[in-house]
Amino acid sequence: MNVAATIRRGRPEDAEAIAGLIADFADESLMLRRTPHMVALAIDDYVVAVDARARIVACGALKEYSPSVAEIAAIAVSREAHGCGLGRAIVDAVESLAVKRGIYDVFALTLQPAFFAALGYQRVDRARYPEKIGRDCLGCIRRFACNEICFAKNLQAEARAAA
Ligand SMILES: CC(C)(COP(=O)(O)OP(=O)(O)OC[C@H]1O[C@@H](n2cnc3c(N)ncnc32)[C@H](O)[C@@H]1OP(=O)(O)O)[C@@H](O)C(=O)NCCC(=O)NCCS
Repeated sequence: MNVAATIRRGRPEDAEAIAGLIADFADESLMLRRTPHMVALAIDDYVVAVDARARIVACGALKEYSPSVAEIAAIAVSREAHGCGLGRAIVDAVESLAVKRGIYDVFALTLQPAFFAALGYQRVDRARYPEKIGRDCLGCIRRFACNEICFAKNLQAEARAAA
């Protein structure tokens, strides 16, 4: 990581700032919008990067679909910090949370394929994740025009390295 920021777990008081960070990109249809209430309800699943002035400059979340499968979700880095390694650091932290919870099969649906490829994810068919399709995709208004690409990673190697 090349910027002065601390990565830590989300706290209830972060919900407003996280939702605000995500909103910047949701306005451009790059991410799904999340209200502060939605973030607060899932705050235990969030990690954030906080800069020297205590501002939240990046976030990400682990969205569990089953005891063994989870999505790397809500990854956002504030524009002024793009390209400094924060996206990678946040995904690393979300992966660590997954391993801590015993989840080794993680995936992301993304419009940023090169980012996830750089982080060691492999492109896969989203049909591999029927839990995601059943819970989110079937009710989505973009269901028939979705341009998100599914990427996946197996975290067993990370788990062994951490042991
Ligand atoms: C995508 C995003 C999270 C990347 O964050 P970032 O902090 O700029 O990324 P990093 O600096 O950690 O880059 C990590 C790697 O990904 C690559 N990368 C990042 N964004 C990239 C892009 N748009 N295209 C190609 N490669 C990219 C970097 O080159 C780097 O590779 P390297 O380590 O081999 O040099 C950030 O651009 C963002 O918040 N975008 C808007 C929201 C969004 O699209 N989120 C993803 C939703 S799934």
